[in-house]
Parts: sequence; structure tokens; C-alpha cells
Amino acid sequence: MQIYFEEKTGTFHLTNSFYSYIIKILPNQQLGQLYFGKPVRHKESFDYLLEMASRSMSPCVFEGNGFFSLEQVKQEFPSYGTGDYRHPAVRIQQSNGSAITEFAYTGYEITSGKPALEGLPATYCEDDKEAMTLHVFLKDQLTGVKAELLYTVFEAVPALARSVRYTNEGEQAVLLDTAMSMNLDLPDSDYEFVQFSGAWARERFEHVNHLRPGIQSVESLRGHSSHHHNPFIILKRPDAGEQTGEALGFSLVYSGNFLAQAEVDNWGVTRVSMGINPYNFSWQLKSGDSFQTPEAVVVYSDRGLNHMSQSFHKLYAKRLARGVWRDKARPILINNWEATYFDFTEDKLVGIASQAKDLGVEMFVLDDGWFGQRVNDKAGLGDWVANPDRLANGITGLAERIDQMGMLFGLWFEPEMVNKDSDLYRAHPDWAIQTPGRNMTHGRNQYVLDFSRKEVVDYIYDAMAAILGNAKVSYVKWDMNRSITEAFSAVLPAEQQGEVMHRYILGLYDLYERLTQAFPHVLFESCASGGARFDPGLLYYAPQAWTSDCTDAVQRLKIQHGSSFCYPISSMGAHVSMSPNHQLFRSTPLKTRGNVACFGTFGYEMDLQLLSDEEKQEVVEQIKFMKEYRELLQFGTFYRLLSPFEGNFTSWMVVSEDKKTAIVGYYKVLNEVNGPFTRVFLAGLDPELDYQINGSAVQGGDELMNIGLITTDSSAGECKDKNLQSCDFDSRLYVLKAK
Ligand code: GLA
Repeated sequence: MQIYFEEKTGTFHLTNSFYSYIIKILPNQQLGQLYFGKPVRHKESFDYLLEMASRSMSPCVFEGNGFFSLEQVKQEFPSYGTGDYRHPAVRIQQSNGSAITEFAYTGYEITSGKPALEGLPATYCEDDKEAMTLHVFLKDQLTGVKAELLYTVFEAVPALARSVRYTNEGEQAVLLDTAMSMNLDLPDSDYEFVQFSGAWARERFEHVNHLRPGIQSVESLRGHSSHHHNPFIILKRPDAGEQTGEALGFSLVYSGNFLAQAEVDNWGVTRVSMGINPYNFSWQLKSGDSFQTPEAVVVYSDRGLNHMSQSFHKLYAKRLARGVWRDKARPILINNWEATYFDFTEDKLVGIASQAKDLGVEMFVLDDGWFGQRVNDKAGLGDWVANPDRLANGITGLAERIDQMGMLFGLWFEPEMVNKDSDLYRAHPDWAIQTPGRNMTHGRNQYVLDFSRKEVVDYIYDAMAAILGNAKVSYVKWDMNRSITEAFSAVLPAEQQGEVMHRYILGLYDLYERLTQAFPHVLFESCASGGARFDPGLLYYAPQAWTSDCTDAVQRLKIQHGSSFCYPISSMGAHVSMSPNHQLFRSTPLKTRGNVACFGTFGYEMDLQLLSDEEKQEVVEQIKFMKEYRELLQFGTFYRLLSPFEGNFTSWMVVSEDKKTAIVGYYKVLNEVNGPFTRVFLAGLDPELDYQINGSAVQGGDELMNIGLITTDSSAGECKDKNLQSCDFDSRLYVLKAK
């Protein structure tokens, strides 16, 4: 890893063994983009990449020079109004109504390691040798606003982290109303735009479309990153697949309103920008004030999508997630939500926990319904005190009973919300986000607390800390079950109302930070009606997230597959639930439910007392398997082999670091009759080693990768033996061990 600066040509070259990123100070002192791709040897000048042509109608910067036009030049930090008509990285409203800025280079600094971003989650280093950071300073002389562009190159991963920090060194206040975290102009547009979109219970489905002239984007305006689109996109070459080809992943470490956009201009240049959604956003920068954008992480892969994903996994599992749980295999839990919903007593809960304990489960999680008057979803949110009618000895008493059984105890909270029917709302109706004189739109009968206000966050902190400090709680499920409407804060002046959505997220991060610091032993799992806030921002505080409210194994194939493009297996909450499934009403074999959930944090979302003895025995086996292999499943190198978005079969694989152990998951949606022979090409094995498959046949790593693993089942030909017949929603796990 190295960052070069060439004084004479004004060239910065950031490089490691995976990529080169080359930028240059342009003739007008703005920052230009020359190259991002496979590594090249350093030299003093790459100016030939500046390609400039005189084009009709293009506005030019210097009188008498028809070549230097900002709409032609590839840039790092573009603004609008001085010749570039594409979407900008920055827009600043000034007191005279103008929004023109001219950010010119003033200097740079190279530091070892990576600085933390104030108030925001970000990737980090444990040792300064892991990364280097380039700080480029730009200033708009007229307003006095300074921009510090941060670029971190990592030694061990093909990632580049970027963000911008603004400081108003001028006299007058300005309004920052576009503050993207990154801009990258790529020289051509022969890319496919891959996005992960959906809705509740079908989050992060993969969609692939070739870029075309104009704008393609995904965004959120809902106050959270959302079920609908994820703050993650990929630009891949059309011939790039899982194992080969070029792919660029762009991920925003942020949980609020975002925009991820590719704009193809009329000369085929692709501008990628990513950051806080400029729609409905503004931030007042008074003289002396600073504003830090969230971090965007770009990963470059010339070895296909799997390598891109593995790079995100490595960075996010080890240098974004934090705390004692980061590197630990996650406890196998039982959650009572789908077992009881709101209908429970303490004894009923203990019965569920006790059965689970007998089968090998390690942690009992009490979900919604334990506090205030919360016996349905119409009341109680905001009152974080146990309901004595349900829990006579409070959370402390229940946690004690669970502890005595030798299990860990986990608890559900929805800290950001309030019901009108709650003591909190009755005491502080103005704490719920609302616009004066307007209707208050509800979602699931609840309202959003104004987390842009410190006193609100403080109050919730105290309430949660009182519970966590007085009971043996090892895990918190932090839910968030509605989007924000009528965004407005009672305590901000008119010119700062554009800050509410971002201030809300800062308040959320502040609460997470304080709780994770005060209760470092607690494992936090984030959740938002399933996966509506499955984003890197929250991974910084909660190393795992509830992937989706849909627990159907077949639907989960797509959800987990889509999520895996950016997010590590250790971050995906995945549980075995009842059949027929509660969301999809589909019946699937218990085996398949387990085989899908084991590519995740693993647990049960059901009353195990309702199972037959035979099924209970199967659960015992599943748990035994998970305990033996969870380190590998959660932290091994993950490969997607077959995609549920492309056909009837899905296959995933994890390989240990030493390549001596691997697990392959193979899933079939619909059964076939008299079908073909099947095989799957494995990946990541040592071609020189021989592997024993499920304790019997032995094959070479080279054979398994080049010829394939035979997966043919009884659906090939005619199967008369009832015990061998395969079925719809069938699945198998193959454990490979080097001999
Ligand atoms: C959300 C979560 C569920 C469950 C319920 C409880 O929908 O995603 O897992 O916790 O809330 O109300």
C-alpha cells in the first residue's frame, strides 16, 4: 500500500496490491479523476489520461482555451453551475442566493492508519500499519468553506474508504444542501448496474440492468435505509460473473436517507455518486461549524463478484463491526415472537425456553410485549418498564430464571418509537415527530420519537440502561417498525428543518454508542420490521441484524443470497420457524429450514414443544452441527455458487482459512421427475488436497472445482424407493474435510 504525490504534475496515486486510484490537481485547481482499476506502476505523470477535446457548445473555464471544460473532464469533487451539468458532489446556498462554488486545491496530508469520523460509524484500523489516509484540502475562497476529502487505502483489502469534512472558515453562514460522500467519474459506461431492492419480507433481491444514458439510482427518503433499496450498488462488466471479471462495489456506511446513483453522460462517462440523499436535506454551516459526511466504501475486484463480496465481508466483519462479539461464534437462540406473538405469560415463556435448553439452544430472547401496557401493537411503546401483570418479578426476575436454567437471556426493545397510548406520550406529546398544524401519520399505530433532540435520547438511554443494568441481559434486539413522516423538529429554527432526518440518525448513533460502551458484554442485533435497516452503519454498533421478517426457507434463499453481496454471514440473523410458514404459508422440510438458517447466526423462532419426538431429535442434530461448524459458517470465506435469481437451484459454500474444511449448501426449490444429472462447480478449495465428502467419498479439490461435485438426487430417473425420494424444497449440506 502506498500513496504517492508528484509535486510537479499534481498527481496523487493511491495503490495497494489490488488497485490503483489516480487523481490530479486540474489546471483550475479543482480535483480531477484519472484512473481507478487494476494496479499500475507509479510514475510522475499520467496526464495523458486527462483526455480533453474541443466540443461544440461546451462551456470552458479559461478564455481563449476551448479544451478545458468541466463537463468534459473527469472529476473527484464536482459542483454545478460552472460548466458541469451533471449532478454535483456539493451544493452550497449562500446569503445572496447563489449556489456557485469553486473548490480549489490548497494542500494535502498523508497520515498512517485511519481517522475516526466524529459521531458517525466508519471502518477502522487496529494498527496504523493496516491503512494509509490521504487528506486533500480544497477551499471555496468566496464563501471560505473548506472541504477535506479523505481517502483511506487498506493494505489487506481492495477497499477505498471516502468521506468529506466541511468547515466554514468564512464569516457568513451558508446552507450545505448537497454533501455526497463520494464522486467517481469512470471513463466508459459498459457496466451493469446491480441493485438490491424489494419490500417488507422480500428484502434485497438482486436486479441487474445495463447502464444507459441518463441517471440510474436507488435511494431512500424514509428516514432509514429501508426494505426498498439498500445503500449498496455494484457496477460490473457484462461478462463478469461470480468467479471472474471486473466489479466495483459501492457501499454507504449510513442508516438514513441515502442516494446511490450512476449518471451516464452523453460521451459515455459514468459518474457514480453516493451519500446522504440531497432531497429534503440541508445543513446550516455557521462560521466555524463543521460537517462530516458519512463514509462510502468502494471495493475493486478483477476476480468477479465473489471476490468483491469476500472483500466487503472481511472489512465489515473485522473492521466495521466492533466489540467482544465481533469475533465470537454467535449463540444459538430461541425467540418467542412467532411462538407466542403478544400472547404469553412468564410460565409460558419459561416453558418454551426450557424445552429449547433441553435440545441444546443457548439463549432465550423475549420479543415484543413485555413492557408498559403492551398487550397488542396499539399501546405501550415508550414505556420501558416490565408489565407486572405478565412478569411479576420484572425483567430481572425472568432473566434470573433463565440464567438459573443455564441459558443466556436476550430482550427486545424498540427505542425510537412511542404509542399515543403510553405514559411517555401522555407526558411528552411534543417528543413525537410532527409538523405543527398537520396530521400525524401513523405506522403500525406508532409514532417516531424526535431523536434529533438530545433530551429525548437521554431519556431513552436512562430507561434502557435501567433495565440492562439491573438484569442479566446478554443480547438486545433493537427494532424499528415504521418510516418517518411529517419530519420536523419542535426545537429547530426554520432554516434548520432540513437537518432533521440526519440529526435523527446522529441521535440514533449516539444512543447506540452510549449503550454499547456502557454494556460491552451485550450482543446487539439490529432489526427494522425485519431488514429495513440492514446497512453498514448499524453493523458498527450491532454485529448482526435480523435479515427479514420472512422466515420461509425458500424466500430466505433469495433474501440471504442478495444480502451476501455486501454483508458477511456473521451479520445475518437467520432462524428456523414453523411450517407452514407464518408469512408465506408454505410448508418446507425442517431439514431445509435448518440448512438455510445455518448460513447465518442461527436460532429458532417457534415453540419447540410443539414438535414431534422425531422432529425434536432433528433439532438436536441441527444444533450439534451448528455448534461444531458455526465458526466456519459465520467467519469462513463465503462463495455463491448457484443463484436463486437464476434458476431452481441455489448453492452456497464456506471454506476455512487453511482450506482444509468446507461446507456446501445445496437447495432445490421445485422437485423434478425423470430429471437430469446435476453437479456444482465448487470454489476456493486447495486443488492439491483430497477431500472426504460427508465422511465417505474422497475427491480432489481440483476435481471438485473443475469437474464439479455430483449433486444428482433421486429425481434423476425413476425412483421407486419411498425413503429415497426427493421432494419440493429439498436441500443438502456437504461437509468436506481434507484427508
Ligand atoms: C418486527 C420485527 C419482528 C418482531 C416484531 C415485534 O416486525 O421484525 O421480528 O420483533 O417487530 O413486534
